[in-house]
Amino acid sequence: MKELSLHILDIAKNSTAAGASLVEITVEASHPDNCLTITIRDDGKGMSSEFLARVKDPFTTSRTTRKVGMGIPLFELSAMSSGGGLDITSASGEGTTVTAYFALDHIDRQPLGDVASTLTVLIQGSPAVDFLYRHTVDNAAFELDTRQVRQILQGVAIDGPDVIKWLYDYITEGINNLGGNLI
Ligand SMILES: Nc1ncnc2c1ncn2[C@@H]1O[C@H](COP(=O)(O)OP(=O)(O)OP(=O)(O)O)[C@@H](O)[C@H]1O
Ligand SMILES: [Mg+2]
Repeated sequence: MKELSLHILDIAKNSTAAGASLVEITVEASHPDNCLTITIRDDGKGMSSEFLARVKDPFTTSRTTRKVGMGIPLFELSAMSSGGGLDITSASGEGTTVTAYFALDHIDRQPLGDVASTLTVLIQGSPAVDFLYRHTVDNAAFELDTRQVRQILQGVAIDGPDVIKWLYDYITEGINNLGGNLI
């Protein structure tokens, strides 16, 4: 994968597949710390400690269509090749948190890419799930909470084409205003 936003899409899809009702995605870039941290937290069904212990192995999957699950191993590989790593915490019945961290200035760090596409694809694919996206670059912050968007929409579907187009532009502009396009 060329962009971190595609890894985010993959990991957040694990969350919706696990029956999450809220998925929180956080992107934090700190130039003083030279660190980029990406967190995907959900309130889905979680994993047992036994399953969690082997989830970074590509041959661990609950897929029935194939025997290999690459979402987590590929994200970890991406983090490790830019001087970072990946942590997962999970508890059965409670949810899962995946945290990946990267050296911001590492030559092999993938660019963040098109987060607005990732978020709108997630919302369209799981319109009943809520997403909270937080993005900070040093002291500047952008946030999108679909629970607030739903309130404003007053019953209008969040996954209709006009709303999705508006969300895409809103997220793109919000991130650009952070200088996030440089990340
Ligand atoms: N957020 C989560 N909540 C509960 N279980 C999870 C979560 N993320 C991953 N898992 C479990 O870990 C397995 C491995 O995940 P991974 O993303 O690496 O591969 P996959 O989703 O099975 O396949 P792929 O990502 O290649 O489509 C999943 O099949 C699922 O059983
Ligand atoms: Mg997956």
